[in-house]
Amino acid sequence: MISIRISSDSPHYLEQAEKLSSVLGYPLVTDVGCSDDCQNNASYVLLVGEDGLSLFPSNRRLHGPIRVDFMLGSNNHRRRFGGGNGQAIAKAVGVSGRFLPRVLDLTAGLGGDGFVLASLGCRVSLVERHPLICSLLRDGLNRAREEGESDPEIRDLMNRLDLIECDSLEMLSDITVDQKPDVIYLDPMFPHRKKSAKVKKEMQAFQHIVGSDIDSDVLLERALKIARYRVVIKRPSVAEFLGDKKPTYSLEGKSTRFDIFALSKIPS
Ligand SMILES: C[S@@+](CC[C@H](N)C(=O)[O-])C[C@H]1O[C@@H](n2cnc3c(N)ncnc32)[C@H](O)[C@@H]1O
Repeated sequence: MISIRISSDSPHYLEQAEKLSSVLGYPLVTDVGCSDDCQNNASYVLLVGEDGLSLFPSNRRLHGPIRVDFMLGSNNHRRRFGGGNGQAIAKAVGVSGRFLPRVLDLTAGLGGDGFVLASLGCRVSLVERHPLICSLLRDGLNRAREEGESDPEIRDLMNRLDLIECDSLEMLSDITVDQKPDVIYLDPMFPHRKKSAKVKKEMQAFQHIVGSDIDSDVLLERALKIARYRVVIKRPSVAEFLGDKKPTYSLEGKSTRFDIFALSKIPS
């Protein structure tokens, strides 16, 4: 169970928390703060406050907060210096000096991959269906847009990103010919069966909240009919091909793999 709290006694946070409570259907607990001795049965607390939205486990010792901050940590590092899987993802979607694809990210999650692609210069539409994940992502995008008010580079980057809250399967059925994206990007949840130490605690919590994406095989089938040039799937290296469908080729990383369905030649 998830409950909503505010970090300080501010009417602005209270109003925001009330809105979230009505949209997401989680109860609002009005005493201020979030400590691991809170006397309710919620396993997670969505905290509204000066850091935007943060999702904490009620037992704070379990793991750190789940939140979206594009200006900090690995997101910021990937924006400024590339690196991480920046190079591999660029190759996978076909970014080059002459071509910057329009990407439709049908499994946006917390927006990390979409943000890297936008940092590389691509226009990216992020689609996410889980209301809580979507709220966390929207909050991160809004805060980054505020940063962009005083930084033209960030403003341009953020102008390349938009968020659509819906089920991608429904969205694909409404796409017209001129709306067809160059590349469709998929990174559905992968059911890690064991509680392996390699799967970070935050990721385990994320999986617990979102559940498994059991319809991702169908999403791939539809995506293959709609993308102009490529469908790219991010998978853990150990995972089988999505829907048992062999891609045209794969780019292998240390723990992650990109499976690429090359549908037609990228313009050069
Ligand atoms: C593993 S996460 C994606 C992580 C993301 N690539 C990132 O960098 O943060 C998968 C996300 O896809 C979303 N998702 C899966 N199937 C979807 C669908 N049909 N429509 C919209 N969102 C979907 C899930 O709700 C989940 O948040």
